[in-house]
Amino acid sequence: MASLGLEDKVILVTGGSRGIGAAIVNLLEDMGAKVAYTCRNPSESQNGKLAIEADVTDLAAMEAAAQKVEDKLGPVYGVVANAGTNKDNFYTKLTPEDWDAVSNVNLKGVNHTIKPLISGMYERGEGSIVCTSSISGERGNVAQTNYAATKAAIIGLVKSLSREAARYGVRANAVAPGFIDTDMTIALPDKVKDKIIAEIPFRRFGKPEDVAWAVAFLLSPVASNYVTGEVLRVNGAHHT
Ligand SMILES: NC(=O)c1ccc[n+]([C@@H]2O[C@H](COP(=O)([O-])OP(=O)(O)OC[C@H]3O[C@@H](n4cnc5c(N)ncnc54)[C@H](O)[C@@H]3O)[C@@H](O)[C@H]2O)c1
Repeated sequence: MASLGLEDKVILVTGGSRGIGAAIVNLLEDMGAKVAYTCRNPSESQNGKLAIEADVTDLAAMEAAAQKVEDKLGPVYGVVANAGTNKDNFYTKLTPEDWDAVSNVNLKGVNHTIKPLISGMYERGEGSIVCTSSISGERGNVAQTNYAATKAAIIGLVKSLSREAARYGVRANAVAPGFIDTDMTIALPDKVKDKIIAEIPFRRFGKPEDVAWAVAFLLSPVASNYVTGEVLRVNGAHHT
């Protein structure tokens, strides 16, 4: 039977305690991968899974997390830099603190996630890195200048990294979700939600699982073996 070839692959997912990250963790486990995920406090951990407490803004904590995954599960094949945050406001109202808080998680945090693991991937000559960008990073969004700037930066990061990493057999791609039903979008007022849904040809928000399958494809050494430096949109044709 055909498979994505993720059985026994060690994969680290950041922000795996809820939303899109939790869907990724569950799907990869169903596929037989050995999955670890980071969360910010133990109360966020899911039973029976390797949860590691680490804030992505803290490089030392992420280095320790990488070490812990390798000690417990073995050499890491896949990295999913999924943790992200938003502090939405009109540009004129954004404070420097709002700017830094979002940028520290969404951009610095992605760097802190990949950096401790990539040299080992190069040495072993295999690996797949998937970073979570966003429709906002591709087409912009009102009240999200800070968030969109980080999500656009992710695209530049994976495109450049893919060119450097190819000679070592390592791939780097981004997934760009549209509006997905998670804690991040739950706070949107119904009026705003209805307006957004009217713009989406699929006439609904996506589900976390819709993104998880795209991530699994990009991780797969079988299905996406020659796919690198790409941005895979999961947005119901909201932006094409
Ligand atoms: N929901 C959407 O509509 C949507 C759309 C496009 C992109 N995204 C992106 O998808 C990713 C997942 O978001 P989600 O929708 O599941 O949101 P969510 O708020 O449910 O989950 C975010 C996850 O990131 C973690 N996180 C946040 N700050 C962190 C930090 N400093 N250190 C470690 N972990 C941290 C949280 O604990 C949580 O597990 C994010 O990168 C987000 O920007 C979401």
